[in-house]
Order: sequence, then structure tokens, then C-alpha cells
Amino acid sequence: MNISFSDISIAKTGALAVLVGETASPRGIAADLDKATKGALKRAMKAADFTGKPGTSLEIMGSQGIAASRVILVGMGKTGDLSLSALENAGGTLVGRLEKAKESTVAIIVDNVSSAKIDAAEAAARVAFGARLRSYRFEKYKTVKKTDKTTPPIKSLTIMTAVAPAARKTWATLSKVADGMFLARDLVNEPANILFPAEFARRAKTLSKLGVKVEVLNEAAMTKLGMGSLLGVGQGSERDSQLVVMRWMGGKANEKPVAFVGKGVCFDTGGISLKPPAGMEDMKGDMGGAACVTGLMHTLAARKAKVNAIGVIGLVENMPDGKAIRPGDILTSMSGQTIEVINTDAEGRLVLADALWYTQDRFKPQFMIDLATLTGAIMVALGREYAGLFSNDDKLSKMLSDCGEAEGEKVWRLPMGPAYDKQINSRFADMKNTGGRDGGSITAAQFLERFVNKTTWAHLDVAGTAMNSPASAINQSWGSGWGVRLLNRLVADHYEG
Ligand code: BES
Ligand code: MN
Ligand code: ZN
Repeated sequence: MNISFSDISIAKTGALAVLVGETASPRGIAADLDKATKGALKRAMKAADFTGKPGTSLEIMGSQGIAASRVILVGMGKTGDLSLSALENAGGTLVGRLEKAKESTVAIIVDNVSSAKIDAAEAAARVAFGARLRSYRFEKYKTVKKTDKTTPPIKSLTIMTAVAPAARKTWATLSKVADGMFLARDLVNEPANILFPAEFARRAKTLSKLGVKVEVLNEAAMTKLGMGSLLGVGQGSERDSQLVVMRWMGGKANEKPVAFVGKGVCFDTGGISLKPPAGMEDMKGDMGGAACVTGLMHTLAARKAKVNAIGVIGLVENMPDGKAIRPGDILTSMSGQTIEVINTDAEGRLVLADALWYTQDRFKPQFMIDLATLTGAIMVALGREYAGLFSNDDKLSKMLSDCGEAEGEKVWRLPMGPAYDKQINSRFADMKNTGGRDGGSITAAQFLERFVNKTTWAHLDVAGTAMNSPASAINQSWGSGWGVRLLNRLVADHYEG
């Protein structure tokens, strides 16, 4: 879908949509359309009792007096209540609907729907953003029933606004966020026979064309560093484990970096503590945290963010095998701390233990944020609406909560503390990798905290949000790309310039 911005015109062919605020009769552009159609719009509004309430729309087909195949009025409610997500949803919903209607050329007029908080350029760009996010498809492995015939993609979308140049500028940034999200969605959607650790690392390497410095540490390099915890997880796999370090140095030379760390379990069988078969195919998405970090690095580099940012992803495959780790085995992590493996299915924390330690040790970042599809328990607690947030820092937590609300990628903080930490003390080693049924997501976070070395840190448990999230106006993909927008905003609002 080609997206462009132009001045407002009602003379176009194809489908024409107009976002309208609450009103009893046509105003502004709608009034012009009403005039051109000799009052057809007003009659239709009256007949359908359409007043522009949010979530409502009105469609008029083949009107006389205009070239458009159809006109859709989309209710946006009172401008004072306008939100970014309402604008994105309007763009997304229109794309879904007009794809089904097999329209190939679409114009959306975004006029008079700005508010005190959202200016006209931002409003127009957000409609484009929602439209673009909705247009994502992942059908590379379908050879027969591609949706190209039943719902052909829209070829051209024009966002019409009185402030086209300013909207274009905002879109130049937002489109890079969409690109990063699409990269993350692609990575999560790929099956594990295609996207194994070395292949994931190869794809991360392509970020170097955006100016990201990408290093790949293989098993020999990680052995030298003493990463016995991460390597333990990959030990039962035919595929070599990888640690990928991405660096975007867009900030001042002496400025401490911010760091993002991702769990990249390309497939999680559970290992010797094998998972039951039902739904195991979803574990191809157990690298959602790493996908987000990679997508974020893409976005930051593509929009030339004025920040020094590090992305570290631990890539492994968790398989049962003659060489695999067993329950009861004791691993020595890079930090020197020892870990008794109680359950080989609690592997994500073993990967992150070494990735987190390595990140703080090498880069001394301002903060570390890790993302991981870490526990099933987080879905029991929060469902798929919120990701779990755990942190040793109130300020960072507050920033993440606020950014999440603003971008529609919400996080909910859960408690941590010594009483929970005690649950992972081990009889034989410094700690064990599970803390029992109670507070499963919290004890996982306590485990991670033992590897942050007092660095300012937040952990996002994205098991419920990175994949298999319910379809929405702006996302129909299994892999959602969750977290890219949230963290891009965190950087943009607080760590740039
Ligand atoms: N990758 C899973 C968590 C998961 C489950 C993510 C479902 C997405 C959907 C993780 O490695 C895991 O298996 N966690 C165990 C931990 C337990 C053994 C302490 C879990 O949640 O059951
Ligand atoms: Mn597991
Ligand atoms: Zn896992």
C-alpha cells in the first residue's frame, strides 16, 4: 500500500472516507460533499440517524455529482475526547473494510478532527499509521489460498489534510515505527525450521545497512565468556546458540547508552521437562522479546534517533536430546552465580541471566529493559491486555506506564521483594530456576534481578502480548510486534537530545 498526503479535494475517484466529529448535519468537507451530491449526504445522515458518534459510520454508494465510488463518513465523536488510538483505529478499520470491498484507491479526509492535545498533522499521520499497521500480511508460505484474490491489498492511500507538509514530516518518523513493528511481526510469525538462532542473527545483521553495528557471538565466544546458563539451554539443540549485540550510536559520544535485552528462544519444547503437545506450535513465538528488540533497533536507526542504544538478544533453541540439560543439573552463569535447574522449561530466565549480566558488564548502561515471553502465569494474572512490568526503579516504571498508555501498549506493574526472592533459594546451588506455583511471574522476575548487578532495570513479561493477541483494528497478525512503539516513545520522550 502506497501512502501519500495531499491537500483536500472531493474530486477523486475510488473510495472517499471522511472523518467527522459529532454533528447533526454536514459541516466543512461533508457540507461540500452534500452540495456536490445535491443533498444526498444530508438525507442519508438523517435516514440513518448518523451524527458522528464514535464507532459509527455511514456509507453512501455511487452518488451522483462526485467521481468517488463510495463515500464513507466515519464518526469520531467529540474532538475533545479524541485519542491517538481512535485515529489509528479509524485508519485501520477503513483499510479492513475497503480491502473487503475490493477498492484499490482510497482517500481519507482528515479535517477538523484535531484537539488541544493532538494537532492536525499528528491526527493525519496517526490515521496513516493505523492504516499501515492494518495492511500487514504474512502469507509467504501460502501457495494456494493467498488472500490476494478475495481481499486484494489497497494499492494507493491518500490522506487528505490542510496541513499535508507537516503531516508528511510526522509520518516520516511514524512510518519507521511501523517498519520496526513489521520486522518484529515477521520474526515472530516465522516458523522455527526457518528462523533458528543463526538465521535470526543473519537477519539482525541486515540492520547494519541502517548504520547499526551488529556483532554475533557464537558458542565458542560465549564459552570463553563463561555463559554456562545460556549455553545450557541450547545444549540439546542441533542449532548453535547465538548472542547478537546491536549498537546504534546516534547520541553524544560520551553519553551512557540505554540497553534493551530480548529473550530469543526460537523454539521452546520445554526440553527434558517436555511441554504437552496442545498448542506447542505457538512456541515458535518464544523469541517475541528478541523480535521486539530487533524491531526497535531498526526503528531507532531508521529515524536516526539521537540516542546511544544497545540491543542484546540471546538466541537459542530449547530441545530434549541426549545432550540436553536435566532437572537437577547445576549451571554456572557468567556472573559466577550457580543455578540448579529444577525445570528445563523455565529456560528463558537462564538465557536472560547471561544476556543481562553481559550487557551491564560491558556497556554500563543508564538502564536495561528486558522483554521476554517468560511465563504462562502472566496471562493468568493480566490476560492479553497488559504486559507485566517488574522493576527496581519507580521512575523508570512510571515512564513505561505512561508511554504504554499513550501508545496503546499497556503495562501493569507487579510487586517484587525479599519474600518472593526467597522462593528461588536452592539447597544445592546459589539459586534454582523455578520458585513453585505461587507468584510464578514474580519469582521469574526475582531470578532476573539477581543478574542485573543493581543496574536500573525493568522486565516486561510479554507472553500474553507478543503473540496470539486478539485481532484488532490495527493488528490482524499473530505476531503483534508489541513493544516497539512503547520503547520507541520511551526513547523519544525521555532519552533524546
Ligand atoms: N515460553 C514459556 C512461557 C510461555 C507460555 C510463553 C505460553 C507464551 C505462551 C516459558 O519458557 C515457560 O515455559 N515457562 C514456564 C515456567 C515454569 C516451568 C516455571 C511456564 O510458564 O509454565
Ligand atoms: Mn519454557
Ligand atoms: Zn520459553
